[in-house]
Amino acid sequence: MNWITELEKCVDTEILYTSELKRSNYASDYTEDLHYLPQVVAIPRTVDEVSKILKFASTHNIPVTPRGAGTGLSGGSLPVHGGISLSMERFNKILNIDQKNFQATVESGVINEVFQQAVKEVGLFYPPDPASKGSCFLGGNIAHSSGGPKALKYGTTKDYVLNLEVVLPTGEVIWTGADTLKNSTGYNLTQLIIGSEGTLGVVTKIVFKLLPLPLHDLLLFASFRSVHDACTAVPHIFTHGISPSALELMESNAVAFTLKHSPEINFDLNPEAQAFLLIEVDGNDMNHLFVACETINNVLEQHNVMEVQFADTSEQKEKLWKIRRSIGEKVKNHSIYKEEDTVVKRANLPQLMTGVKEIGLAYGFESVCYGHAGDGNLHVNILKGTMSDEQWNGPHLEEGIRKLFRLCKELGGTISGEHGIGLVQRKYLNEVLSPTNIALMKGIKAVFDPNGILNPSKIWED
Ligand code: LAC
Ligand code: ZN
Repeated sequence: MNWITELEKCVDTEILYTSELKRSNYASDYTEDLHYLPQVVAIPRTVDEVSKILKFASTHNIPVTPRGAGTGLSGGSLPVHGGISLSMERFNKILNIDQKNFQATVESGVINEVFQQAVKEVGLFYPPDPASKGSCFLGGNIAHSSGGPKALKYGTTKDYVLNLEVVLPTGEVIWTGADTLKNSTGYNLTQLIIGSEGTLGVVTKIVFKLLPLPLHDLLLFASFRSVHDACTAVPHIFTHGISPSALELMESNAVAFTLKHSPEINFDLNPEAQAFLLIEVDGNDMNHLFVACETINNVLEQHNVMEVQFADTSEQKEKLWKIRRSIGEKVKNHSIYKEEDTVVKRANLPQLMTGVKEIGLAYGFESVCYGHAGDGNLHVNILKGTMSDEQWNGPHLEEGIRKLFRLCKELGGTISGEHGIGLVQRKYLNEVLSPTNIALMKGIKAVFDPNGILNPSKIWED
């Protein structure tokens, strides 16, 4: 008997989709141009339905790939073995905003920005702000501990999660912690689930802690003749006592591609500039923020800045952030690319940047670099351009990427800051994790998922 017919007996058939058209919408995410068709798409409405699907899959050894909004960049939601694509899109309710305790409870399919806006309306602040915040789900953010520009001052998703409701691969439902700001009660299962890329359980509810909303922010846009000068300036901003709420780097080609593919954005770029820094400070005291901007300006001048523009209006701020947030998507309009989510100690960013370009020359690839300079988290987009599929998937390029990741390690860093390992980075995991580390992770996986049905073939190679 076909397992799909069996599954249809277990759960309401209204939540199961088998047409090729529907399934093809769940075959890709934002990673390169990869495409794996699931055999069934399940879109459950309740925790009980999630539990039934997972229990069925465990019993019948059917692979299940959990899916948020499909905005991931490491292939975490690709159903590489077919099976069931488990979409959390119907878990889209904000259940409670507890103003007294600065907490909120949400379902895992709530869009990040919808949540940010809802808490903002009552004067609260949820900082993690991935570039895809307008569409990505909070559950997907949990899967990778997503960051975004504000991670620099405020931390990533993991720093805001108090408690999680999780359906285990066997179908059991647990809460991982407590709705408290402190918790010293046994192993920290909450943090174990965060960043586990949907391999240990399916998150259905999240209890977040929140902050008071900062009243003001100011934004500077600095242009540099050399990328090296821009990167070198970054650590000095901190050593002068400033803690920006965002400090982003953009190579000029990143901005040029973005503007080329965004005719609606009207923006004059200094043609001599090779790199830009977008620097934001936030807080409640405007005078403090002006003084901080003056200090930053002085630091930038010591590092050969060409020009510093101050975003006066909210429209100008919005425009600059739109350019920055659109880069990933707009570079893709130009060429398919491999996204390398490199991260090093921030003072080592100049060496990383130099290394990326040297390795690119040696291995014949063009790169577009941008990202969260203040965190040392540089997104390196390796363009496919005119490469053949053989070159693109071949050993030479792989060796170049390996070199890049070895450099990250030498510079005190690792191979992913916020996008995860998923499918596409797993062959490089052994560059930064020892066999003992990987064996421990596999052991944890086996405890949660004895039949290996949940998001198989992710994080490490089989
Ligand atoms: C960004 C995404 C790619 O920072 O992480 O734009
Ligand atoms: Zn990023």
